[in-house]
Amino acid sequence: MAENVLLVFNRNPYDGTDAMIQLSDLTRRYGNALAVDHISFDVTKGEVFGFLGPNGAGKTTTIRMLTGLSKPTEGKACIMRLDVNSDMAQIKKYIGVVPEISNLYDELSAMDNLIFMAQLYGVPRSQRKKKAEELLKIFRLYERKDSLFRTFSRGMKRALTLAAALIHNPEILFLDEPTVGLDVVAGRSVRNLISNLHRQGITIFLTTHYLEEADLLCDRVAILVKGKILAIGSPRDLKEKTGKNSLEEAFMKITGLEPEVLAIEKGK
Ligand SMILES: Nc1ncnc2c1ncn2[C@@H]1O[C@H](COP(=O)(O)OP(=O)(O)O)[C@@H](O)[C@H]1O
Ligand SMILES: [Mg+2]
Repeated sequence: MAENVLLVFNRNPYDGTDAMIQLSDLTRRYGNALAVDHISFDVTKGEVFGFLGPNGAGKTTTIRMLTGLSKPTEGKACIMRLDVNSDMAQIKKYIGVVPEISNLYDELSAMDNLIFMAQLYGVPRSQRKKKAEELLKIFRLYERKDSLFRTFSRGMKRALTLAAALIHNPEILFLDEPTVGLDVVAGRSVRNLISNLHRQGITIFLTTHYLEEADLLCDRVAILVKGKILAIGSPRDLKEKTGKNSLEEAFMKITGLEPEVLAIEKGK
């Protein structure tokens, strides 16, 4: 995204006095297993909030509950004071979601994917093409607007998925592992896009297991292990409290997951 580009967002009357995202004892069970175990925190307006944790920690399950793809078993979550259990139709107008695996269609062109998403999210017909073109230009994909999604590189796919999530000018963006599987250049470009959205005042909730990325992007992070939050704070706070120089070292200290242990778990 070009540094100087500004999207014009239609603001919801909600002024963000309360937190934009509020979780209170949010819980999700699968059978007897607790995928998400009574987690509580707030995300304030304009914040980039990082949800960190190893594979299987419950990051995706949390995003799915916050975006209407999965029902909480217990507890409560609100987005802009609206309850995820009862007001999801309303909430969807104000949130954009970038799932880990793209929700776009392989056999549609970049342009048609965006137009389709615009239609789905209730963008008025007269504005759909203009909005799609604007996003394609910002994301530097305009020259490829007529190419099928399946012909895109991984980085281009991620960029278009991000563009699609912005088609209805959301207030809050949920990103599930936005840079996983991307090469250095594509990863950097997605991080720049996130920073630009941050500067425009969008509230961003992202999951990642890249701690350097979280350190770079996030105002605050929560560390999730086995469905439980072990720590929450700014990357700087967590480093200071643990007396470590990097978020990765702080993470290791907080979680008690030493590299040897991680290596064994990965090998399972
Ligand atoms: N649909 C499902 N059915 C059963 N178990 C699930 C389902 N989805 C996730 N889980 C389990 O919930 C836990 C958390 O998974 P997930 O939220 O995907 O973790 P993360 O995104 O942090 O890697 C894991 O133990 C996973 O196996
Ligand atoms: Mg996940």
